Amino acid sequence: MRAVVVDRYGPPDVQRLEDVERPIPKADEVLIKIYATTVTRTDCGIRGAKPFFIRFIFGVRRPKQRILGTELAGEIEAVGAAVSLFAVGDPVFGSTAAFQSGTHAEFVCIPESGPLAHKPVGMTFEEAASVTDGAILALMCLESVKPQSGQTILVYGASGSIGTAGVQLAKHFGADVTAVCRTKNVELVRSLGADRVIDYTQEDFTKNGETYDVIFDAVGKHSFSRCKGSLKRGGAYVATDGLGNAFLALWTSRVGNKRVLFPIPPHYTKKNVLLLKELIEAGKYRAVIDRCYPLEEIVEATRYVETEQKTGNVVLTIDAG
Ligand SMILES: NC(=O)c1ccc[n+]([C@@H]2O[C@H](COP(=O)([O-])OP(=O)(O)OC[C@H]3O[C@@H](n4cnc5c(N)ncnc54)[C@H](OP(=O)(O)O)[C@@H]3O)[C@@H](O)[C@H]2O)c1
Repeated sequence: MRAVVVDRYGPPDVQRLEDVERPIPKADEVLIKIYATTVTRTDCGIRGAKPFFIRFIFGVRRPKQRILGTELAGEIEAVGAAVSLFAVGDPVFGSTAAFQSGTHAEFVCIPESGPLAHKPVGMTFEEAASVTDGAILALMCLESVKPQSGQTILVYGASGSIGTAGVQLAKHFGADVTAVCRTKNVELVRSLGADRVIDYTQEDFTKNGETYDVIFDAVGKHSFSRCKGSLKRGGAYVATDGLGNAFLALWTSRVGNKRVLFPIPPHYTKKNVLLLKELIEAGKYRAVIDRCYPLEEIVEATRYVETEQKTGNVVLTIDAG
């Protein structure tokens, strides 16, 4: 099969298309023919070994897993002897398990109990491929603050992959959502259900006197110290990036009345994928796609993701061949 392989850490052009062995499903696994996958910030972090500690998880000298990519949508090509949830020909979507990859390829094997479900009715493969990563990360962040109706949540970086999911999921939990993004994304973010949108090129939310129960920094560009004054007593700053936040999470759990939460590592589970499928089919969640590239253009797609300016998700399509 064709796959994008990475044999050393480095810039986007260390990725190259190669013919590799097609994986064979174990008894409890399904083999999926992939029609669409994505390039995520996680893929970029692993490939570039940034931050450095990535190497202690994914391989010190070179990536232990040669094929990156975590999200997918496609069709079941074959099933292991013990598989009962899926049958050959079923359209599916989902993700590999945490710290696993392999979807930048024509085929991948995933345990049937993994973060995989039947594709939502009426959704394209491209849309379905771009649902799980940002949404599961956003879900994990929101669950850390025990979301409830009426809670006031500010989502900073509301136009990214995690941010677009964060706005929609916070609304699903009944929160009052203020979203922060740049001018060009204001209408999109409003259409995702935000109760109000602040254009950060026009207004600094930390200086307008408003306070929130939760500030969800969905893009890792803000900080607890700058947000603290905009948090209510007992409020939480939820981080998605920055190792320093792990130390602040420990510190603020003992000192002060405002907390930092940094929920890692991510939990990619079937339960979460099924929740997303339910929300999509109920019209309460949609995938936001910025650009689609063919698999062959992975280097260009990756360069675009690394501008840190994508809106929602960047999809790779795979020609059935
Ligand atoms: N915790 C984890 O396990 C985990 C896993 C994956 C990724 N991450 C981290 O999560 C963060 C978000 O990932 P993502 O994939 O959602 O990001 P993304 O899609 O690449 O975010 C792009 C968005 O960020 C916004 N942005 C860029 N610079 C900004 C700034 N200075 N202030 C406000 N917004 C800015 C842009 O919106 P505007 O044009 O509207 O500004 C753009 O739409 C990244 O830091 C990533 O490293 C964490």
